[in-house]
Amino acid sequence: MILVTGGAGFIGSNFVLDWLAQSDEPVVNLDALTYAGNRANLAALDGDARHVFVHGDIGDRALVDGLLATHRPRAIVHFAAESHVDRSIHGPGAFVKTNVEGTFTLLEAARGFWNTLDGAGKAAFRFHHVSTDEVYGSLKPSDPPFAETNPYEPNSPYSASKAASDHLVRAWHHTYGLPVLTTNCSNNYGPYHFPEKLIPLMIVNALAGKPLPVYGDGRQIRDWLYVKDHCSGIRAVLAGGRVGETYNIGGWNEMANIDIVHTVCALLDELRPDPAGPYARLITHVTDRPGHDRRYAIDARKIERELGWRPAETFATGIRKTVQWYLDNAAWVANVQSGAYQDWIGTHYSAR
Ligand SMILES: NC(=O)c1ccc[n+]([C@@H]2O[C@H](COP(=O)([O-])OP(=O)(O)OC[C@H]3O[C@@H](n4cnc5c(N)ncnc54)[C@H](O)[C@@H]3O)[C@@H](O)[C@H]2O)c1
Repeated sequence: MILVTGGAGFIGSNFVLDWLAQSDEPVVNLDALTYAGNRANLAALDGDARHVFVHGDIGDRALVDGLLATHRPRAIVHFAAESHVDRSIHGPGAFVKTNVEGTFTLLEAARGFWNTLDGAGKAAFRFHHVSTDEVYGSLKPSDPPFAETNPYEPNSPYSASKAASDHLVRAWHHTYGLPVLTTNCSNNYGPYHFPEKLIPLMIVNALAGKPLPVYGDGRQIRDWLYVKDHCSGIRAVLAGGRVGETYNIGGWNEMANIDIVHTVCALLDELRPDPAGPYARLITHVTDRPGHDRRYAIDARKIERELGWRPAETFATGIRKTVQWYLDNAAWVANVQSGAYQDWIGTHYSAR
């Protein structure tokens, strides 16, 4: 079996659902159920003995030790993190606590467990760390995309905490021999994405007739990858990646935020037309995020060359599936838009 951390979040829940759709290898899913964690994402697995959900913190060493000793996983796939850049600007402490200290605790627990294994068990074990392209900093318009060899230049508390966790993972391999893998992926989108992030926020606001807040000029460029392609990339690296290596995962799809918003509006105009007029009328430019990186782009040739991985979706197919998913899952959206969500959105955007 495998131990997944953060498997009730956006990417983690997609990963667990896809994993169990493709294999019968059980998953123990450790998640603290922060505001971003949602058991409803995993409702399809209710009663499924292959999925064991554990409500707990990766920073709880005794808990993690107990899970490893009991379930004896062959791999840990580590998604759990504080993941929202805006929240990291308002409150960086939680990011250091979970992303840095939590990863440290998990690594130490993994090392302790790994040391109890015999030679074959040790060689087969993997600690897969899921990270972001944001650790590489910001690109100028003419710069080549981020390769695995790019220096780390994180600019936000979020990316700095993820960079720190990447360094810990690297060090636990070089110092202690722990068989680690790290993947650095670009911006994901797709089902179960919490509606504080750009794409789901635009969809749910548009459907509610609310303003569509776009930071600054909206010309910030990101590479976008459909979440299920990220999950297949992780599976490919877990299965065949070289121990100690990092692999960039991306969609070969650079787009400016404002173009993403217009694409979402056009799809909604087609799929759920608003009698009041085109959704783009709701676009509102708000004060930019401090220190907002201008451009990220991913060179994903290493994972393609070594493991034969390519994304299955283009942006056109992936974004259509995503908008349709939000239209089909209004109850899920209503459920996650709790009081705490409204408070955050209200506080964050009202002053802009
Ligand atoms: N979203 C993206 O576009 C993106 C891109 C590249 C990499 N990543 C990385 O992928 C991972 C998952 O991202 P996401 O977007 O799914 O995040 P998310 O915020 O949607 O989910 C994070 C999950 O981790 C859980 N969690 C938080 N703190 C925890 C703790 N201390 N112990 C146990 N569980 C805890 C939360 O409850 C939640 O279920 C993160 O490590 C993130 O850095 C995300």
